[in-house]
Amino acid sequence: AEYQYILVERKERVGIVTLNRPKELNALNFQLVAELADALEEIDRDEEIRCIILTGAGERAFAAGADIKEMADKTPIEMFSGGFAAWERIRRIHTPLIAAVQGYALGGGCELAMHCDMIVATENARFGQPEIGIGVIPGAGGTQRLARTLGKYRTMELVLTGAQISAQELAAHGLVNRVVPPGEHLTVALQLAQTVAAQAPLAARLAKESVQAAFETSLEEGLEQERKNFFLLFSTEDMREGMRAFVEKRKPDFKGR
Ligand code: HXC
Repeated sequence: AEYQYILVERKERVGIVTLNRPKELNALNFQLVAELADALEEIDRDEEIRCIILTGAGERAFAAGADIKEMADKTPIEMFSGGFAAWERIRRIHTPLIAAVQGYALGGGCELAMHCDMIVATENARFGQPEIGIGVIPGAGGTQRLARTLGKYRTMELVLTGAQISAQELAAHGLVNRVVPPGEHLTVALQLAQTVAAQAPLAARLAKESVQAAFETSLEEGLEQERKNFFLLFSTEDMREGMRAFVEKRKPDFKGR
């Protein structure tokens, strides 16, 4: 498919999607988010791709938020029907997603990074939810996902003051996986992605789904989902192959079946 605001490439079994409006600090206009959802769904259907990296073009930003110029005159109904559902489609991607963040990840940019399953960020990355400064609040999960990881008090400070937070502090709270020198975020994300891509892909998808359940259901329901996913994997050829390879002391050859 042809996209105006994103770039899509493949490196072996890893898909790389780049937000590509560097002059606007990759501000997320409605078309960009729709293209992103389309591209991620297309990659999600591609059995050859087993992990996806999401990154921003240019050195200054992953994404500086939703496009304020586009939103400035919108009505609630236009916001509701203007493609906000794309965020839900991104949340439902089965393939593991890794955000590679350099520079600003603010507002919707911070929320987009938090839609991913792991986050690699440079030392100079700055996260935050500055929406309060333009008279609104986070609208794509920022209050919820930050609160569930940073806790109530630090999250309140961030969303009530719009202050930025460093990759180092987020890493200390477990919200960033790797803090790396500027310019190395893609390399490190790719290494991480290749490690994920080498695993049995159905197991990776069900692992992702099961961990996500920890955010979305009670412990009892989450445990039940995990158990069912665990049992389900005993129907796969890759499970036989993985266990046989262990017994035979060789590397498994996973086929995604
Ligand atoms: C539209 C944006 C933008 C944005 C930057 N730009 N962020 N355009 N929407 N969110 C544009 C600027 O207008 C400018 O273009 C160019 O990118 C470079 O930005 P500057 O401001 O000149 O750079 P700098 O002075 O270095 O400041 C960087 C910054 C600042 C601190 C990141 O740009 C900033 O505060 N941006 C807005 C951050 C924000 O409030 N995000 C939350 C948005 S609301 P021109 O052509 O003017 O020079 C949101 C809600 C999400 O995200 C809800 C779910 C979708």
